[in-house]
Amino acid sequence: MNSLFRASRDLLRASATRGYASASFPDRKVAVLGAAGGIGQPLSLLLKLNPYVTELALYDIAGTPGVAADISHINSKGRVKGYAGEDQLGEALKGADVIVIPAGVPRKPGMTRDDLFKINAGIVRALVLKAAGVYDKRKVLGVTTLDVVRAKTFYAEKAGVDVGKVDVPVVGGHAGITILPLFSQTVPTPNVDLSPADIDALTKRTQEGGTEVVQAKAGKGSATLSMAYAGALMADACLRGLNGDSDVVECAYVESTVTDLPFFASKVRLGRAGVEEVYGLGELNDYERAGLKSLVPELQASIDKGVKFMQEA
Ligand code: 2OP
Repeated sequence: MNSLFRASRDLLRASATRGYASASFPDRKVAVLGAAGGIGQPLSLLLKLNPYVTELALYDIAGTPGVAADISHINSKGRVKGYAGEDQLGEALKGADVIVIPAGVPRKPGMTRDDLFKINAGIVRALVLKAAGVYDKRKVLGVTTLDVVRAKTFYAEKAGVDVGKVDVPVVGGHAGITILPLFSQTVPTPNVDLSPADIDALTKRTQEGGTEVVQAKAGKGSATLSMAYAGALMADACLRGLNGDSDVVECAYVESTVTDLPFFASKVRLGRAGVEEVYGLGELNDYERAGLKSLVPELQASIDKGVKFMQEA
């Protein structure tokens, strides 16, 4: 069971009876940029339940006073403040230990993530440049946690094992075939009785997980609730790393030398300095090696496009 889940469960139990007793963690401010959106709202809710968060800054272009007022009534310890409009962005970011950016527009059926590239990259570019000013590869990471969450869920369902005990690394990128789950490295029981056809189906379902939700929502957007959960897990992992937990390992999309690609998702260790170690891929089977080979040109093309976009800013 992961710590966020445990913490939320304990929190819910405690708050039902006597309120949440504050534990002694350092003060941590978390800023959510895009907090009034479909992902931002449930993500902010989950962060309000996180016992490491002492200050929660909810920023969006509009709508955050309402979201902040709503969430602020929850009897957990984080203080909540809403910030609306670009001129309040600086204040929202001031002193933040972790900044989570779920801002963007969602896909509609028939669209690829690439179709949204310009608008979403533009939104993030504007926010990130203001947030950081300088780039530090240890401090910027892409959240691919939803791919891991999906791989765990689909695998456990298929293999009939306890989902709370399953872990599956997912490497590469976050679009279609660039998402590569390494089911041969599933912990604790790799590939229990699953045939190559089963693994192929699980791989494809993980790769198309986002599209499955886009289609089911039929024009009303893409994954928001599971994405919020995944974002909250990653924020929790970053906070645990910052607070000095020694063994915080998650998959994340980072600047990397693991392959020839300059950015790549793989397991990383999070600590006080952010991404403190980027782990290699471990042993791959033939199926995974083939998947890796075919994802490289596609991910390289996306990276080239992103780098060009940033240079043109
Ligand atoms: C997904 O559903 C939202 O891209 C995100 O995978």
